[in-house]
Amino acid sequence: MKTIGVLTSGGDAPGMNSAVYSVVKTACANGMKVYGIKYSYWGLTFDIDNCLVDFDLNNVGDILNKGGSYLRSMRFKDFYKEEYMQQAIANCRAKGIEGLVVIGGDGSFRGARDLTLRGLPCIGIPGTIDNDIPSSDFTLGYDTCLNTIMHLCESLCDTISSNDRCMVVEVMGNKCSDLPVNGGIACGATAIVVPEIMESINNDAAGYVVNKIREARDLREKMAAEKGDKEIKKHYLIIVAEKMDGVNVADIAKAVEKELGIESRSIILGHLQRGGQPSAFDVITGCQMGNRAVKLLMDGIGNRVVVKKGIDIVDYDILEALEMKSPLDMNQYKLSVELGA
Ligand code: F6P
Repeated sequence: MKTIGVLTSGGDAPGMNSAVYSVVKTACANGMKVYGIKYSYWGLTFDIDNCLVDFDLNNVGDILNKGGSYLRSMRFKDFYKEEYMQQAIANCRAKGIEGLVVIGGDGSFRGARDLTLRGLPCIGIPGTIDNDIPSSDFTLGYDTCLNTIMHLCESLCDTISSNDRCMVVEVMGNKCSDLPVNGGIACGATAIVVPEIMESINNDAAGYVVNKIREARDLREKMAAEKGDKEIKKHYLIIVAEKMDGVNVADIAKAVEKELGIESRSIILGHLQRGGQPSAFDVITGCQMGNRAVKLLMDGIGNRVVVKKGIDIVDYDILEALEMKSPLDMNQYKLSVELGA
């Protein structure tokens, strides 16, 4: 293979640029040419002439540890359509692109598999803050996002501790509870609400949070009384997963205020969580994954996803990877409950 392409797809994530950097550097070190493809599968299909970035050793260095996606990232839901895939393949042929690295989530990997089956070998790299790709223990962007949640919540704690308030915080995760649970642990949350516990709390998120705060308050007061101490911690941070039907942070804050008389506020952290410089862990993992992806293409191998298992970089067949499941680690949830007060 003499020329390959690389694109980023889906929601942008810190660490995507690091993987692109590594793809370019590895390819150049092995005598290959690399085109960055802007605007994901859409650019590949409809605007190839304006979307190619002629990467080389002189122009890729700056993106190594920058947040966002230099190549732009977007969702192109119609890419499953045969005519679009054929167009993308024809465009690649016209530009001499013989293999492709796709950095994104599960939907992007389906596209990579379909292109491989039609003759263009593709390798997937998991890039999303959500950590919702079961084949990989870590997706690019997840570690950075956890750190961002921790720092943002630390700021929130500065203000709620000054006012003895409760703050109910919604975090991203797209139906995967890793960000809320581990983000909650990292910022000392009193309670964490995720889909996996809803049945056990009779679908009453507000009631659950009120009880957890009441329990925490009682324990804190008891401990202070035993020591004859007047200093009692009176602020509470609550973490709630996004996209839960019938659950919203404003309602939970109102219930806390009404039931417990604790002044409460709510906030949706939103896209603040998706930006920022990648952590060293995400930069290094991106470099490892990009390197492995190019080595596979050099061997003429496609239809693989490159993932991290523990500390190892391994690769799986895309279909096999898409069928894997990784339920929430309930030990992490139990840890958060034990540390909740
Ligand atoms: O997949 C990443 C993610 O940030 C999710 O956490 C979130 O649910 C979604 O994307 C938001 O999408 P958009 O940027 O299109 O609003």
